[in-house]
Amino acid sequence: MSWPTWLPLRKDLQPLTPYGAPQIPADAALNTNENPYPPSEDLQKAITQAVAKVASTLNRYPDRDAEVLRSKLATYINERSMTSLESKNIWAANGSNEIIQSLFLAFGEGVALGFTPSYSMHPLIAKVTGTKWIDGSRNSDLTFNLDLAVQSIREFKPQLTFITTPNNPTGDSIELADINVLADEVSRCGGLLIVDEAYAEFSQEISATTLVSSKPQVVVIRTMSKAFAFAGARLGYLVADTHVVESMMLVRLPYHLSALTQAAAQVALDHRIELLAGVNSLVSARESMVKSLQALGLTTLPSSANFLLFTGFSASAPQLWAGLLEKGVLIRDVGLSGYLRVTIGNEAENQRFIQALQQLL
Ligand SMILES: Cc1ncc(COP(=O)(O)O)c(C=O)c1O
Repeated sequence: MSWPTWLPLRKDLQPLTPYGAPQIPADAALNTNENPYPPSEDLQKAITQAVAKVASTLNRYPDRDAEVLRSKLATYINERSMTSLESKNIWAANGSNEIIQSLFLAFGEGVALGFTPSYSMHPLIAKVTGTKWIDGSRNSDLTFNLDLAVQSIREFKPQLTFITTPNNPTGDSIELADINVLADEVSRCGGLLIVDEAYAEFSQEISATTLVSSKPQVVVIRTMSKAFAFAGARLGYLVADTHVVESMMLVRLPYHLSALTQAAAQVALDHRIELLAGVNSLVSARESMVKSLQALGLTTLPSSANFLLFTGFSASAPQLWAGLLEKGVLIRDVGLSGYLRVTIGNEAENQRFIQALQQLL
């Protein structure tokens, strides 16, 4: 993109293009790792009632610190991970992307390190906030390599080290024992270990939230966009030592989380059993999808998330992606040569995807 000379846009931003998966209408939208199950009628009603109640006080700013919401998030994490965290260990924002941005604003003074391919917003937000980003490596089969990661931390001494588990786009998880090793390593260089657990509820691994009380350098990012099926509401959060949370308050915009968002997210958390009920069916649909892809002669990477990265097709990834789109199926070309990523959808969407693939291969 060439910018007009009169526009005083920062020089480092000028080569960038806006991030985003293509927003193309499709019969089967399997491209952004959303949850295919819409809120039940009961939940829609409960959210509408809560929002209607808040509507009468919209002349007032919301609770700046989202206390009630943060305490409900702490209860949820404690239930799942047997932790004893409190609201002061939680910070909430408009999606976990905003959490990532706040982390860079607060701690991005030195270098940030991640292990690619991983979530592409980590380096992009680093760039936008002016933090130097270093791409660490993974194994040639794209799985995480602990020794390589430790070596990179020793070499670059990053302020922020990012890991994503389950990883997007590969789907593999990092064991808690390895996360422990990384936490010790980052603490030796005075950094923080940022564990992006956007897909944690789909995985059997023990969450890194269990480390927060003993290892203050561990910061866990979570979201309600995936397992909670609440992407449209925009609610992400972090689980961390209280000093990390207090640092977030230095960089957040005042009243960043609207009263409507807070109200809706509180209702969703109250309905968590219902909302999370879809996780098990998505996990078994993922396993069936692995079998269907293998039956077509394709290879899938082991995934503990709600998506699969697959390879083994003879067309190029952009060609196969475009062919699927013509048949009404939108998946994701993540820019890895020979690989495409598909989100697990509902039964009809998954079938549609497999049938379209059958016709194209
Ligand atoms: C690993 C990872 N982290 C964070 C996010 C951002 O999620 P949100 O901003 O919807 O909370 C995503 C979204 O796809 C993701 O894959």
